[in-house]
Amino acid sequence: MKKRAGLFTSIVLVAFSYIMLSYTTEKNNENTDLTDTISIDIPNDVMAIIDNKCYGCHNNESKSSKSKGKLNFDKFKDGYSKSKTISKLGKISKDLHKNEMPPEKFLVKYPDKTLTADESKLIIDWAEGQRKTLIGE
Ligand code: HEC
Repeated sequence: MKKRAGLFTSIVLVAFSYIMLSYTTEKNNENTDLTDTISIDIPNDVMAIIDNKCYGCHNNESKSSKSKGKLNFDKFKDGYSKSKTISKLGKISKDLHKNEMPPEKFLVKYPDKTLTADESKLIIDWAEGQRKTLIGE
C-alpha cells in the first residue's frame, strides 16, 4: 500500500510539473525579448495540411538547404527567436495570399500538392492570428 501511494504521488508531481512548465512557456511568449527563442502552437488541423503540402521541403531533415534555410517548421518549437517567428509567420501569409507556395515548378509535377482555397485560408488565419498575438495586437 505504501509503495503504491509513493508511485501515485510521483505521478501527480510529474503531471503537475508538466502542466506548470507548459503554462510558463506559453505565458513567456508575451513577455519575452525579440531575441529570445520561443515556441508557438500549430493546431492539428493546420499541421495536417502543412505535413502534407509544405513540411517535406521545410523541415530539419530537408535535403534542400534553400527551402529549409528560408523556412523550417520544426523551428517553430524552440528554434526561432520571437522576431524571426513574427517575420516567418508574416511571410507565410504573404506567400499564400499570392499563391506562391508550394513552388509552381513543383506543382507541375505534383498537382495534388496544390493548396485548396480552404486550406490556404486555414494556414493564413493561423499564421496571422499567431503573429498578431506575438506583436500584441
Ligand atoms: C518543393 C519544395 C517546397 C514545398 C513543397 C513548399 N516550399 Fe516553401 N519554399 C521552397 C523554396 C525552395 C523556397 C525558397 C524560395 C526562394 O528563396 O526563392 C521556399 C520559400 C518559402 C517561404 C519564404 C520564406 C522567407 O523567409 O522568405 C515561405 C513563407 C514558404 N516557402 C512557405 C511554404 C508553405 C506554407 C508551403 C506549403 C503550402 C510550402 N512553402 C511548400 C520550397 C518549397
